[in-house]
Amino acid sequence: MGTPNYWDYLKINTLLTLQDGLEDESQLIPDELHFIITHQVFELWFKLALAELRHARDHLAAPEVPEEKIPYVVHHLRRVNRVLNLLVSSFEVMETLTPQDFLSFRDKLTPSSGFQSFQMRELEMIMGMQSAGRLRYGKTNALEHIRALSESSPTGAMAWGRLKKASEEQSIRSALHEWLYRTPIQGSSPDEPGDSEAVDAFLTSYIEAIDAHHTQQADRLIDIGLGNTDDIRARFANNTEQARLYLSAEDVEEEAERPRRRRIRAALVYIESYRTLPLLAWPRLLVDTMVEFEEQMVLFRTRHARMVERIIGRRVGTGGSSGVDYLDKTTRIRIFTDLWGARTLLLPKDRIPPVHNAEFYGFATE
Ligand code: HEM
Repeated sequence: MGTPNYWDYLKINTLLTLQDGLEDESQLIPDELHFIITHQVFELWFKLALAELRHARDHLAAPEVPEEKIPYVVHHLRRVNRVLNLLVSSFEVMETLTPQDFLSFRDKLTPSSGFQSFQMRELEMIMGMQSAGRLRYGKTNALEHIRALSESSPTGAMAWGRLKKASEEQSIRSALHEWLYRTPIQGSSPDEPGDSEAVDAFLTSYIEAIDAHHTQQADRLIDIGLGNTDDIRARFANNTEQARLYLSAEDVEEEAERPRRRRIRAALVYIESYRTLPLLAWPRLLVDTMVEFEEQMVLFRTRHARMVERIIGRRVGTGGSSGVDYLDKTTRIRIFTDLWGARTLLLPKDRIPPVHNAEFYGFATE
């Protein structure tokens, strides 16, 4: 091997030969080169995001995650977040394509479509999207779209193989849940005697605090004369009931799974509420970075949909979906539902129940 150089290390020469689309590059119209390069750049960033996400998952999935490992998880997730943020703004570059210019080569591409971005599907799987959570369009869904194509295309078969493998990996959502499950609550850990009583006592006091907070908020609105008294009371009572349902995990279908989810949700509320305890500072940052990750995914979907609306209006997509209508529905997808759910329940600092065993979390007591 000779002296290393930029072009060999980065395979620049090969990279620059990959923009010929369906024919020879000299046959491409300028807009088509723009279209190809923009997509390729997105896919390269997806590749990096997937690698970073797997690193974050591996750190988090260890049976025990020492405190000093949490910054590594945050580090990898932050990179994913910055990449997604960059992609969200990159749609501006795609948008310089005018609707009419796109029509000059769009038909040639049918039925190829972003539906075949298997890396996007892999990203969702590593995040923890379940098959049942997939949106349907017509009689199919985006994953089934790739499975069907795998029968007639070698790259499709490779893509399906990758997705099957990804579906067998542990997801970041599952690793996060296992880690959250082990969070000490009021100094108590799941393997200790009396843990479920300690968690229940914390949850009972937290629900009481929510109820008191809601009652005070309702009184205030009623005092100001903002709306009908019964309506206001009913709205807050409903919020309290929703909080109780969430914290008791009654919405979780499998009854055997409820105590576990109850503990996970209690941990989320605990970490956010007592974030000034030194041992909870990194966990809170980790949860926040995870929420930002999903926020960036939602922004990606939203920004893509707006860009599509601007370029092709509301016509049917080349992949056969309803186009913007379908894409808008995908913006409602949430995978880290428990993380979002906890945000609705947080209380002002002076309303949270007192901490027990603060010294356990590194807080010096007199
Ligand atoms: C002129 C530019 C673009 C147009 C008009 C467009 C249009 C569409 C449409 C209509 C769909 C829905 C599926 C279908 O029926 O085909 C879709 C899906 C998708 N597109 Fe685009 N797109 C464009 C650029 C991009 C770019 C630059 C990316 C970056 C990778 C991208 C990624 C995706 C992905 C991942 C999906 C699947 C969405 C899902 O099922 O969640 N698209 N696109």
